[in-house]
Amino acid sequence: MNDKHPIHTTLSTDAMRILERYEIELGTKNQVLERALLGMDKLRFKDKIDTQSISRIIKRVNTGIPGFDGLIEGGIPEGFVVIVTGPPGTGKTTFSLQFLMDGIRNNERCIFFSFEEMAEQLIKQTIRFGWDIGEYVDKGYLEIFGFSRFSTEEIIEIIDIFKPKRIVFDSLNIFSDISDFRRSPQWRNILKVIKDKKITCLAVTEKSHGGSAMGFDEFDFMGDGVISLDKKQKNDLDTYPTCNIQIQKMRLTKVNEIPHQFVINDNGIEVIGNMGIERKAFNALHANREKIEHIATVDRELRISLNSIIGFSELMMVKAPGDLNEKQERYVKNVHTSGKHLLELIQKRS
Ligand SMILES: Nc1ncnc2c1ncn2[C@@H]1O[C@H](COP(=O)(O)OP(=O)(O)O)[C@@H](O)[C@H]1O
Ligand SMILES: [Mg+2]
Repeated sequence: MNDKHPIHTTLSTDAMRILERYEIELGTKNQVLERALLGMDKLRFKDKIDTQSISRIIKRVNTGIPGFDGLIEGGIPEGFVVIVTGPPGTGKTTFSLQFLMDGIRNNERCIFFSFEEMAEQLIKQTIRFGWDIGEYVDKGYLEIFGFSRFSTEEIIEIIDIFKPKRIVFDSLNIFSDISDFRRSPQWRNILKVIKDKKITCLAVTEKSHGGSAMGFDEFDFMGDGVISLDKKQKNDLDTYPTCNIQIQKMRLTKVNEIPHQFVINDNGIEVIGNMGIERKAFNALHANREKIEHIATVDRELRISLNSIIGFSELMMVKAPGDLNEKQERYVKNVHTSGKHLLELIQKRS
């Protein structure tokens, strides 16, 4: 009986051809040969990684945000795609523009793909911060594509032609369904180009609820890093919310994960301190509150006691409990006068 085995289908076409030839010649499957060919074929699935050529040094890219790079060992690792996320008006666009501004100051070419704002408006925003971005646009260091409607192929073509070191996408939410987006071949194609060319990229995404751990979305999982911006009331007495920034993820990096307070001033975004400072302020406020409560208690007790002293001394002065000698009368008058004086002092203070 000729027990023919089916030829293994995961083999390459060349390997299959060799196996088929021997099968015809031998009239049966050559298992030893098949195993050998399969072993050789494994190489097909291997990425060509030259471990010797991988740099041991992680090159870090400055963000240009004062007070920020120290939280991530000096900067974003080169070639990373970092998600900048948060609710509207928390400074995501400003953060991204400032990041590009740092690049062009170092003679790096940069591209800003905005899907939400006109280029003119973005340039105006940078002028408000005193950054002369127009000069760099004229010199060809910066390309701003306002209200971009490019296809994936066009975005890749622009990257190929312009050869940027930094790119911003603001924001990714314009792309259809988030869960599809991460897996979409279009985005993966862009991602591959960015990674191949070691371009450092900020991708802005919108969140309605700020940086809670519950609020991760597909974008966050996709990014090499996640920087979350938010606005919060520090405590009930605050009239205005405070802006804070938190690094929730940065691959290859020891991260300072404490939320840090930041301000948007005439120079752009500046990180000014961590929540430790806020905690101190809160503690001071708390201590102050305790002091006020203590004073109120003393005040109440004093009034009760003084009213008692004044009242009883008055009763003695009108000799309600019985006769007093001359000395006793003088002393009780002194007690009464002193009591009244103290009460007046308290009443004046309040
Ligand atoms: N020159 C400025 N000084 C202070 N704050 C500013 C200045 N320009 C813009 N802002 C603040 O920055 C906020 C917008 O930041 P933006 O980066 O556009 O936020 P997002 O992209 O997260 O919506 C505005 O709400 C405004 O309050
Ligand atoms: Mg924005």
